[in-house]
Order: sequence, then C-alpha cells, then structure tokens
Amino acid sequence: MSVMDKIVSLAKRRGFIFPSSEIYGGLSGCWDYGPLGVELKRNVKDAWWQDMVSRHDETMAIDGGPSAFSMTGIDSSILMNPRIWQASGHVDGFSDPMVDCRETRNRYRADQLVVFGLVKENTADNSIGDTAMLFAAPGELGATPEEELIAPHKKRVSKASKALGNFRVVQIPDALSDANLRARTLAPKASEPGTLTEPRAFNLMFETHVGALKDSSSTAYLRPETAQGIFVNFKNVCDTARVRLPFGIGQLGKAFRNEINPRNFTFRSREFEQMEIEFFCKPEEAGRWYKYWRDRRYNWYVGLGLNKAKLHLREHETDELAHYAASCADVEYEFPFGKSELEGIANRTDFDLRQHMEHSGKDLRYLDDLEPDKEKRRFLPHVIEPSAGADRATLAFLCDAYTEDKVGGETRTVLKLHPRLAPIKAAIFPLIKKEGMPEKALAIYRDLRRQFAASYDEKGAIGRRYRRQDEAGTPFCITIDGDTMTNDTVTLRERDTCEQIRLPADGILAYITERLNE
Ligand code: GAP
Repeated sequence: MSVMDKIVSLAKRRGFIFPSSEIYGGLSGCWDYGPLGVELKRNVKDAWWQDMVSRHDETMAIDGGPSAFSMTGIDSSILMNPRIWQASGHVDGFSDPMVDCRETRNRYRADQLVVFGLVKENTADNSIGDTAMLFAAPGELGATPEEELIAPHKKRVSKASKALGNFRVVQIPDALSDANLRARTLAPKASEPGTLTEPRAFNLMFETHVGALKDSSSTAYLRPETAQGIFVNFKNVCDTARVRLPFGIGQLGKAFRNEINPRNFTFRSREFEQMEIEFFCKPEEAGRWYKYWRDRRYNWYVGLGLNKAKLHLREHETDELAHYAASCADVEYEFPFGKSELEGIANRTDFDLRQHMEHSGKDLRYLDDLEPDKEKRRFLPHVIEPSAGADRATLAFLCDAYTEDKVGGETRTVLKLHPRLAPIKAAIFPLIKKEGMPEKALAIYRDLRRQFAASYDEKGAIGRRYRRQDEAGTPFCITIDGDTMTNDTVTLRERDTCEQIRLPADGILAYITERLNE
C-alpha cells in the first residue's frame, strides 16, 4: 500500500474524509468531512482567519520605521451578477484544454498528458522520425519521472525498441495540438494510436439559472474563486471600515470549478474552499508588499508544523505569469503524489479594480485625503493576492502529520498534528469502569470540554484507547486510576513521545491550555 493509500484509508476509517454521496456511488471531485475532519479543517480555517484577519497585529518596515496596517474580512455571496465574471475575464478565459480518448472514453486535461517519443539513439536532434512511437501518460508535467511514464508501457516499449534498435526517450511539448503527431500518439490504456481528440477549450465555471426563467438572460455562475467578491466590495469596505492604504480584505468560502480531471484525493476537487486575501497598496509599494506576503504566507505553514524540508517557495518565470500579474510565487508542498501547489501569491497590479471600474461604470479609485498634490489624490491601488485552498492546506497537514513509528516493539500510526490543528485536544479515560473512576473522569472531561474539544472513552484496554487517539492526532491523553482516587493526581500522556507525567487533577486544564498556546 502506498503512503497516500494509507492516508486515504485512515481518513475514511477514522472519519476525517469520506467520498461524497457514497451510498449512491459517489460524485467525482466532491468530498465530505467527517466528525474528525470537520474539526481539523475548521481549525485550519480558524488559524488562517485569526492569524491573517481577526487577531492580525503585524507591522511592516516601510520607509524606515515599522508601520501598522489593517486587515478586515468579508463574506460575499456565492452567486453574483454574471457581469462580474465577464469583467474578471472568467467567462472568456477561465478554461482548460480538454482531450477525449475515443476508445477508452477517458477525458484528460491536454496540458497534463505528457507525450513522449522513442527516437533512434543515433538521431542527431530530437526530431521525431517516421518510425518513432509516441505515448501519452497522465501526470503533472515535469513531476513524473521518465521511468514511471515508461513502466506501464513496458511491453510496447520493448517491442518498439526491437523495431527501432537503440532508442532514447524524449518529451514532445504540445504534441496534441499537431494532427500528425496526435494520429501517432497512443493514449493511456488504448490499444491503437490516434484515438485522442483535438484539444478543446472547456470553461471550468458551473452554470446555473437564477429565477424561474431558464434562458441566457438568467444564466449565473457558482463562483470559481472568492477573490472577485472582495474586489466588487472594495468601495463598500473603504466607505464603511475607515481603512487607509495599505490594508487587506480576507475572505474564506466555497468555490466551484468543473475540473476536467479531479484527482489526488481532495487536492483537486470540484467543490472546495479558498482562503484569499486581496491586499491593497500604493502602486509604488507593490513590489515590497509582494515579497512581504510571499514570505509571511510561507512562514504561516511552517509555524503550524509543516516540515520545512518539504515546503518550497517557487517564483514563477516571466513566461508563466498571467497577463495581469507582475509577479507570482507558489508555496509548494511535497505531497506523497508529488510536489504541488498549496497557495499562490500574486502581484495583480490594478487589473481587477480597473476591469470592474470599466464594466460597472462606478469610480473605484481610492481617495487619499492626506495627499497634498490634488492630481495624485485619486488613484487605483495595486493588489497583492495570497490565495490559498483550505482543503489543500488540510490535506498537506494531514499528509505531513502521518507517521508510523515503533512503541514498545509495536508499530503505531500517529498523526503528529500541531496542537492548534488537532481535532481533539485531550482524551480522558478511566482506567477501569468501577471504583468511582468513570465519575471522576467524566467530571474532568466536562470541565475541559468547556474550553476545547475533548473526548471521553471508557471502552477497551488502555493501550488500544491510546492508539485510537494517536490516529486521531490527539496531543494529550489523561488517565484516571487508583491513585487518582486517593491523592487526586492523574497521568498525562504525550502523543509524540508517549511519555507520561503525573499531575494534580485540578491543574490539568491550566497545563493543557498553556501547552496548546505554545
Ligand atoms: N484568486 C486566485 C485563484 O483563485 P488559483 O491558483 O486558481 O488562484 C488558489 O487558486 C488556490 O485555491 C490554489 O492554490 C489551491 O490551494 C486552491 N484550489 C484551486 N483549485 C482547486 C481545486 N480544484 N481543488 C482544491 N483546491 C483548489
């Protein structure tokens, strides 16, 4: 079983994540969070909201001294006036290239099908001769090593290698856009080459209708990002929240994309949650704020325990940038299925506000009443956008926490989650179900539960109860035993070290609270 399979299986078995609509056969690209998963994801979202918005207390050294800045939040609707998506460019441009295999009926994103060819070893360049064979294999471009691409085609490769003599494997960019190359490309699991269709643009927005009439005048979209809800409320926030540049608006909520190929568990889903900030600043300060947010967002994941060795900041090359972005970086995490994007931080200039100003006819310029020069008083701020996915972050924390280690000669599975993210903070066990222990344990449990998520368990051997909590990622287990009944002390066991200490029962709440806030 691969590590990823083990994580998916644990997620299902312990109630973190279930396939959506499971009893009806599921719905591709949709997932449900179970009793432990809902707490974990909520903790991820709460940590983001608290650290970025509600408890934000950062300063930034700009022009010498440290300068404070405000962060506010909004919660805009999922259905919005469709003209928003016209202005943002999503109606015309939010699409992926899609290809179908006529034989297997599988559908792929053209840019995620890697086409590689076998060319004769003695060919001077990488040109594909008449005899060369072309194979297509799914995989995030560049992420899949060549051996992995070739392995499923071993038989065909060895047949081809006989025909070609010595050969070399070369990747052929954009092969599917060329009819000749397409005709010679063998699709995954197909028996004959030439079954892939020409790539077609496929808009990822889900359409619906608002009101009783179902015609083009009533078409609306489920938002594909939360960001536009912030831009269209920019003026409302300026007018009501008394914010001055620079300031940020955060929003957390559902987004929907009709992904051609949802995959890798919750990583690419059709319904997911975003945690987005639009940070508005003076145009001349945008470069500095971009670097600030890029580094701050990277460090946020590190602070919540993600392994730094698996977390990377990748600055985009100029040719990768969207036409409106001046710069962009991805926070990437090494998931068991490969290195993939967790969050993007982009300098979007004044593109969005300008588009909405033009399409709505409303003046969205910021008024700087402290600016002495009248000409410069009204202007469109530039925007830095740190855009994260709540489900992707949750998956990264889950994968990073998953550990198998040996305790007393036995292998255990433990989720070494940061205590702030752990779904249950403490579990309370009576050693046995008599001699007043359950009553004492229940009293402590009720006391703790008023402050944080706690669990009570009196069933089974104590070792098994510990293992169950290890799999749930519970940082502390408290056991009430015979000594508790005589001297009012309890044992507290730490999840990661399995070490046990003895504490007075009435000191437990203070001890755990302090440890949770470390
Ligand atoms: N407003 C900019 C924006 O939406 P994006 O890179 O398309 O940018 C931002 O999305 C983040 O949203 C991604 O880094 C990812 O964490 C999350 N995300 C995007 N598509 C997703 C999907 N299909 N499933 C899960 N998360 C997704």
